[in-house]
Amino acid sequence: MTDVDPKIAQLRAKREQGRLGGGPDRIARQHKDGKMTARERLEILLDPGSFRETDAFVVQRARDFGMDGADKQFLGDSVVTGWGTIDGRLVYVYSQDFTVLGGSLSEVHAEKIVKIMEMAMKVGAPLIGLNDSGGARIQEGVVSLGGYADIFLRNTLASGVIPQLSAIMGPCAGGAVYSPALTDFIFMVKKTSYMFVTGPDVIKSVTHEDVTKEELGGAMTHSTVSGVCHVAADSEEDCLFLLRELLGYLPQNNMEDPPSVPMKDDPLRTEEALDSIVPDNPNKPYDVKEVIRLVVDDHRFFEIHEHFATNVVVGFARLGGHSVGIVANQPAVLAGVLDIDASEKAARFIRFCDCFNIPIITFEDVPGFMPGVAQEHGGIIRSGAKLLYAYCEATVPKICVITRKAYGGAYCVLSPRATRGDLVLAWPC
Ligand code: HXC
Repeated sequence: MTDVDPKIAQLRAKREQGRLGGGPDRIARQHKDGKMTARERLEILLDPGSFRETDAFVVQRARDFGMDGADKQFLGDSVVTGWGTIDGRLVYVYSQDFTVLGGSLSEVHAEKIVKIMEMAMKVGAPLIGLNDSGGARIQEGVVSLGGYADIFLRNTLASGVIPQLSAIMGPCAGGAVYSPALTDFIFMVKKTSYMFVTGPDVIKSVTHEDVTKEELGGAMTHSTVSGVCHVAADSEEDCLFLLRELLGYLPQNNMEDPPSVPMKDDPLRTEEALDSIVPDNPNKPYDVKEVIRLVVDDHRFFEIHEHFATNVVVGFARLGGHSVGIVANQPAVLAGVLDIDASEKAARFIRFCDCFNIPIITFEDVPGFMPGVAQEHGGIIRSGAKLLYAYCEATVPKICVITRKAYGGAYCVLSPRATRGDLVLAWPC
């Protein structure tokens, strides 16, 4: 056996030390809180052995901020960055390390993220951020805030160019919420993650409202009430697998097509059940998700915003092995009417599909726009226009299937041929 160069051996030892982040005690606490470490998460997210780390040896500029001393210096600081593959496809990743100073964002932490964001944009590959952070590093003050602003700018420049996915796997508070909010999809883990601009204590002192962290900004609050969260996962593992799955529907960037997969499902398959799911009586409800699942490849529908504005259903599926975006009225909820939240949910989804070359299939069964003072005053005109704009603007293939009725202004909005819909099909009933 040849002797290893002492310098290399020293570097390797240093690297091993860096891999421990904040150290064994902090890691044990992270596990006790039901959370994985930044590196454990990356191991599940990425294909085995594919991760290549960047900036593993940088440390924060401690002395500048009165944080001198070995106990406050951590190799790589509080974020792990780099690239790897998911199902063999290149992705850029960052994973905030809560075991190091609460994953707080320092100048160096921000620089590391910005570097991989720029690489992702240059190469044209998706960016995935795993967030678990106490926010701006208090000791660094405005320098840390500047780091956030650098990230926000890159999120904006990358928007519509490469897919950007965010997972919230712990705290995400203050202005830190705006980086995930500028990305395309936010995943949250039930019970262990939360997002808010101002926390319960500040709210209590300003508005005298009593609210827990979970009620204010937990995964289900943001899935059902605010619509900030697109996918609520039962566990961290579940979240990481769902991220992998979603990526399978998306292209690497806006110049490419989404990957098509070899298909086992027969494209000429007939489904007798489709004859009877939609009742003839236009006032009777049915679950449009059953229709979607019966039509798409292998009955697999990846729903986005499953719990928000449930009168419209959106998500990804495959037809003939190719990715499609599905938009459907849901007659089982509010008769599938279009209201403010439903319009915004569908509009955002359509614009994403249009950016990333994903054809849009619309299942239409709509009684019209929601009447009411609250809707008018809440801006249904503004929100409805966003949906109309999204459909008119979209140049990807657009197919509309009218499953029962297309009434009122909603007819004009939901992908008729007049707004560059390519095909409008009417269900026989
Ligand atoms: C420096 C921080 C930190 C931060 C946590 N830590 N947040 N250090 N800057 N922002 C440190 C803690 O001091 C602690 O170190 C360690 O991380 C673990 O934190 P704990 O408090 O023990 O963990 P926990 O009980 O789980 O509570 C997590 C927390 C809490 C809820 C996130 O740490 C917290 O409230 N942190 C401050 C949050 C905050 O005000 N951030 C700034 C938001 S404003 P020790 O060594 O003591 O164990 C912001 C502006 C962004 O982000 C604007 C962008 C435009």
